[in-house]
Amino acid sequence: MDLGLDGKRALVIGASRGLGAAIAATLAAEGAEVLAASRTTERTEAWRDTLTPAVRDRVRPMVVDLADAASVDRAAEEAGAVDVLVGNAGGPRPGPVLEMTRGDWQSAFTMMAANHFALVAALVPGMKAKGWGRVLTIGSSAIEQPVPNLALSNAIRGAVAGWNKTLAGELAPHGVTVNIILPGRIHTERVDALDSANAERQGKTADEVAAASRASIPAGRYGDPQEFADVAAFLVSKRASYVTGSMVRVDGGMIRSI
Ligand SMILES: NC(=O)c1ccc[n+]([C@@H]2O[C@H](COP(=O)([O-])OP(=O)(O)OC[C@H]3O[C@@H](n4cnc5c(N)ncnc54)[C@H](OP(=O)(O)O)[C@@H]3O)[C@@H](O)[C@H]2O)c1
Repeated sequence: MDLGLDGKRALVIGASRGLGAAIAATLAAEGAEVLAASRTTERTEAWRDTLTPAVRDRVRPMVVDLADAASVDRAAEEAGAVDVLVGNAGGPRPGPVLEMTRGDWQSAFTMMAANHFALVAALVPGMKAKGWGRVLTIGSSAIEQPVPNLALSNAIRGAVAGWNKTLAGELAPHGVTVNIILPGRIHTERVDALDSANAERQGKTADEVAAASRASIPAGRYGDPQEFADVAAFLVSKRASYVTGSMVRVDGGMIRSI
């Protein structure tokens, strides 16, 4: 299936490793010109160097810190007109609701919501002018099934879901789709870090926690970042032109609700 991404310009945030890196590499392999942005560029350069020369030349590392409004504004200007935005950042620190301070709530909301919303607002006019665009936000299974001990993520991603649905309605007449992709447990460094944090909290080893976590997923395993990136690539493609305002699960059946 031709995804129609050849020559499209994409900005992927949180692209130095994990889900963002897998998406950035996949979009470049599909022919897109990819700006791969995160706070640091060394690891982006490292994975870019493993690509074939033609694909590698379509990836440009870029710096942005989603926690910093001025950095986000600079990145929007540097990116210029983009056809595809994949919004993503590091997840917030784990912990229960009552352990979070007012400052924790505010800084997590700034990074995961307010600055992401501002970046999208800066880039959407260019998409509307072309009558084509894709905004895809990496969310979490936590939007549909809150994850214990992830208070910040559970709460703030719910706000992002409301933003997503509202914006999708506003942009549908302009050929711009707006969706969220929901990772269940995709094997990245963050998942390993969360398993270690839970192990410490429960007095178990990280391997025991990971084994129980895998066993709780109907597929019986963690997802591979490439399996996640393939769905993301479809959602930002020409082929997904009638999918908007949706939250698409990539979770091996982990979320139990209908
Ligand atoms: N993996 C999963 O199964 C899973 C499940 C549910 C939700 N999620 C969510 O999906 C997102 C990506 O997950 P992941 O597993 O790929 O995480 P990850 O391995 O920790 O990667 C996070 C990426 O975001 C970048 N980043 C962190 N803080 C940033 C900031 N302030 N500004 C810009 N970039 C920033 C990091 O690069 P630098 O450090 O270089 O900036 C890195 O490239 C996270 O929000 C996570 O909570 C993941």
